[in-house]
Amino acid sequence: MVCLMASEKIVAILLAAGKGERMGPMAVPKQYAKFNNKRLLSHTINAFINHKKINHIIVAIRPEDKRLFQETITEIDHPHAQNIQLVVGGKERQNSVYNALEALQEFNPKYVLIHDGVRPFVSHLLINRIIDGLQKHNGVIPVLPITDSIKRVSNGIVAGSVSRSELYVAQTPQGFSYQNILMCHRLVRFSNHSDDSSVMESYSLPIFTVPGDPKNIKITNEEDLEKFKEVSYINS
Ligand code: CTP
Ligand code: MG
Repeated sequence: MVCLMASEKIVAILLAAGKGERMGPMAVPKQYAKFNNKRLLSHTINAFINHKKINHIIVAIRPEDKRLFQETITEIDHPHAQNIQLVVGGKERQNSVYNALEALQEFNPKYVLIHDGVRPFVSHLLINRIIDGLQKHNGVIPVLPITDSIKRVSNGIVAGSVSRSELYVAQTPQGFSYQNILMCHRLVRFSNHSDDSSVMESYSLPIFTVPGDPKNIKITNEEDLEKFKEVSYINS
C-alpha cells in the first residue's frame, strides 16, 4: 500500500461476513480456516495489502468473529496491517457490501475493488487488469468463458440446451467508481443481487469485462477447500 493523491485513491473491500453454510460443519467459518499457519482470509488480505496501487482496505466481518479477525491480522507481516478498517457485515453479501460502501464515505476513494474474502488466489496481474479497465470504464469485472455444455433441466429431465457462446462466469474483484456503485447500492436496498455487477446492471450502466483467472477460485464447499490445500502446499 502507498499514499497517492486523494483523487486517485483505490480501496479494496473484502467480504468476510458470511457463515460458510455450504461448507458443512466447521470449527470456524471458512474464511478463518487455517492452512500453512495462515487463515484463508489472511492470504486474501496479503494479496491486496502488498499491491502498490491499493491505498486502503476495509473488511466486512460478523461481530462475533472479531477475535478471529484479530488473530488473522497478527498473521499479516505488513506495516499497514493495523490500518485495516473493519465494518460489521449484513445478513446477505449485498448488505455487507452496502455497509462497507457507506463506511468509506469519509475516505471517499475514487475506485473500489470489491472482492470475496474466500478467493485467496487473486493475483496482482488480475488486480492490475481491473484497475487498468477503470481508467476508461465505471465498472470492470473479470469473467471466464464457459467450456462445459449447458443444459436446462426440469425435474431431473433435460429440457433443452443453452448456447454457451454468450455465457461467462463472473469472478471478483469487481471494480467500480466509488460514487457510482454507492449510488446503485443505495437504490437496490430492497432487491436481491448476487454480485455488484448485477447491482450496477440494474441501472443500465455498462460494465466492461476483462479476462478472469481460472486459479482465482472461490472456496464454497469442501472440495474447494481440498483444492485450496493442494495449491497452497505447492505455492509454499
Ligand atoms: N459474505 C459477506 N456477508 C454475507 C454473506 C457473505 O461478507 N452476509 C461474504 C463471504 O464471507 C464470502 C463472500 O461474501 O467471502 C462470498 O460468499 P459465499 O461464498 O456465499 O460465502 P458464505 O455466504 O459465507 O457461504 P454460504 O453461502 O455457503 O453460507
Ligand atoms: Mg453466501
